[in-house]
Amino acid sequence: MAFPVTRPRRLRRTPALRRLVAETHLDAGQLILPAFVREGASEPVPISSMPGVVQHTRDTLRKAAAQAAELGLGGIMLFGVPEHKDARGSGAVDPDGILNVALADVKAEVGDALPVMADLCLDEFTDHGHCGVLTASGAVDNDATLELYAEMARAQAAAGADVVGPSGMMDGQVGVIRAALDGAGHQDVVILAYAVKYASAFYGPFREAVGSSLQGDRRTYQQDGGNVVEGVREALLDVEEGADLVMVKPALAYLDVIRAVRETVDVPVAAYNISGEYAMVEAAAANGWIDRDAAILETLTSIRRAGADVILTYWAAEVAARL
Ligand code: PBG
Repeated sequence: MAFPVTRPRRLRRTPALRRLVAETHLDAGQLILPAFVREGASEPVPISSMPGVVQHTRDTLRKAAAQAAELGLGGIMLFGVPEHKDARGSGAVDPDGILNVALADVKAEVGDALPVMADLCLDEFTDHGHCGVLTASGAVDNDATLELYAEMARAQAAAGADVVGPSGMMDGQVGVIRAALDGAGHQDVVILAYAVKYASAFYGPFREAVGSSLQGDRRTYQQDGGNVVEGVREALLDVEEGADLVMVKPALAYLDVIRAVRETVDVPVAAYNISGEYAMVEAAAANGWIDRDAAILETLTSIRRAGADVILTYWAAEVAARL
């Protein structure tokens, strides 16, 4: 009987040996917590499709940010839920709009201890729910939208954002935002570009989280799920336009895209473990069908292994506390 000479199991015998040869690590400093803040809320409002996640009040958001700083997270990414919406998404550029006042609150709370980030997109602020303004015939008007993004970037930077995250998938958005920031003296504000963003069914719970009024879909600006070369092209364009980091989104159904982008660009790559990915694990765990804590770590580890340097995840604080 010939026994095996090569025995990979030797390195798996004890937890300490397994740790010694672990190839992929999770680090609190590379996890970003997305957070919602709702205008006019006096109590945090639970989001039913995202158990454990709330729409914060301004006050509870400050506390969540202080905790995130305490845990050494890589950042907090803010999304505003305004009371009033209109066709142009005016609340997004208004210095008194919910997202901008929340940015100022959070910045006052954490200073430079935690990178303060803002989603830069109109969809939470438009009554039609699209990421840009519409033409008379109802199409999303790329270049008219860019002008609003420039204004929104200046408003967010003035409110104290360290990082802006353009997520609307308009062509040229990164270049226009970089120029707008630089022109207003905000050369140090970082652009984390949602560079590769697919039209995904997994955004479902997020639409509840921000009270989206979207009818239809975003397929004229977000990408088709089958395209990876196009994703790499989008990432390269954003780097050329001045993106400091590029993001792939969603994460789990696009791990190959994360890998392809990581191997192509020379800036840090982020991946967004989005609402539907969160909800799937939470729902299965609530039914007793999977081990929640293990599934969370396995999920985040797989995204890191695929090549993401940074992960946006609703579990950021919980996981950081466990690491
Ligand atoms: C757009 C935006 C979306 C998400 C982040 N930024 C929604 C969309 O493009 O439809 C989704 C995040 C998630 O699902 O967790 N402002």
